[in-house]
Amino acid sequence: MDILVIGGGGREHAIVKKLSESERVGKIYCAPGNAGIAELAECVAISATDIDGVVNFVTQNPNIGLTVVAPDDPLSLGMVDALNAIGKRAFGPVKGAARIEASKAFAKDLMKKYGIPTAQYQTFSDYEAAKAYLSECRIPVVLKADGLALGKGVLICNTREEALEGIADMMQEKRFGSAGSTVVIEEFLTGREVSVLAFTDGKTVLPMLPSQDHKRAYDNDQGLNTGGMGTFCPSPYFTKEMQEECMRTIFQPTVDAMAKEGVPFKGVLYFGLMMTPDGVKVIEYNARFGDPETQVVLPLLTNDLLSVFEACIDGTLDTVTLEWKDAAAVCVIMASGGYPESYQKGYPITIGALEQNVVIYHAGTAFKDGKLVTAGGRVLGVTAIDSDLVSAREKAYRNLSAVSFEKAHYRTDIGKK
Ligand code: AMP
Ligand code: GLY
Repeated sequence: MDILVIGGGGREHAIVKKLSESERVGKIYCAPGNAGIAELAECVAISATDIDGVVNFVTQNPNIGLTVVAPDDPLSLGMVDALNAIGKRAFGPVKGAARIEASKAFAKDLMKKYGIPTAQYQTFSDYEAAKAYLSECRIPVVLKADGLALGKGVLICNTREEALEGIADMMQEKRFGSAGSTVVIEEFLTGREVSVLAFTDGKTVLPMLPSQDHKRAYDNDQGLNTGGMGTFCPSPYFTKEMQEECMRTIFQPTVDAMAKEGVPFKGVLYFGLMMTPDGVKVIEYNARFGDPETQVVLPLLTNDLLSVFEACIDGTLDTVTLEWKDAAAVCVIMASGGYPESYQKGYPITIGALEQNVVIYHAGTAFKDGKLVTAGGRVLGVTAIDSDLVSAREKAYRNLSAVSFEKAHYRTDIGKK
């Protein structure tokens, strides 16, 4: 079967690579893809949010039996609904179910209604009311723009002044555009974070191995928040007991809640969790694979990915068991110097010889005059797989020195904690 994958980052490269290993997969197309994906798939110049463009392409190529919609924007715009409407199969939640990520207020209300553990919160659409609440609430406090804001719509405020400034920024100055018209104000939680991505068909939920992202730009969690500077998997802190607790209190209840609300979630549901002193709580939901979590989780999966995708769509996930390599993976992101603020593009990239079980997942790369060049903030990720986390980490950093481009920036402490 031929497949179209939507997106063009490291996550999509990892999905394309895993699919390419399936005997059941024929030709892979990727819209828009990147220079690394181009080695495995035919990249087509359609933007990831161009629903009409994707619908036309799938119509003109009836050999495409499945479209995998990986990024949040096309999911929340209803790309899966549009494909289903013309009788085409697509992997990912419909628009109504993608709201679990696209609206933080929707997600928080869902958790409250169904007793799913999360930080206490209040939602405000009125600036004066939010200001009045912030004048007396407990500090630190967390402000979250309701809508999608490129992962930047969260402010952790350590003083009341910061909180009042932040709320004015969001609601009056419209720093996150319309995403900040409604704001969730929530209790500050403490604890270690873990990401659990799970396949679900709307009834059954199958968690993947737990992983952990490093979101800040610099070592020791200094600097600005980024899309993610590196990941490791499995997370040794998330125990079997916690996994069982989460299955009972979070994973299955969330999937059941969405079904009860009339928007069954089919696809990958990403649970951003915090292991607090009072048990594991939900920090956020995403309606998709994480980036760069996917780059450490999928290489450890041994199942045929196409079959798992199909089971999610067909509602037969109860017949699937996920199988994992007895190994660990570490991904170190190499970014353009200056990221996540301003940076230059177009620097040539050289990649030397790599050891076995090392994969480079491209993100912001392109070909210019036949040469591989940088084309984004996060340029690529070096994922190493080895028997345990310590050796995977050492291997990732050893092989990272085979990759070079001008002003490359990476963290030296991924997987160290
Ligand atoms: P989010 O975009 O919701 O994942 O938030 C970004 C980051 O902010 C999370 O990964 C956490 O590190 C932090 N964060 C979000 N909500 C809270 C909270 N209630 N308490 C403490 N930290 C939080
Ligand atoms: N790594 C965080 C995310 O994909 O949202």
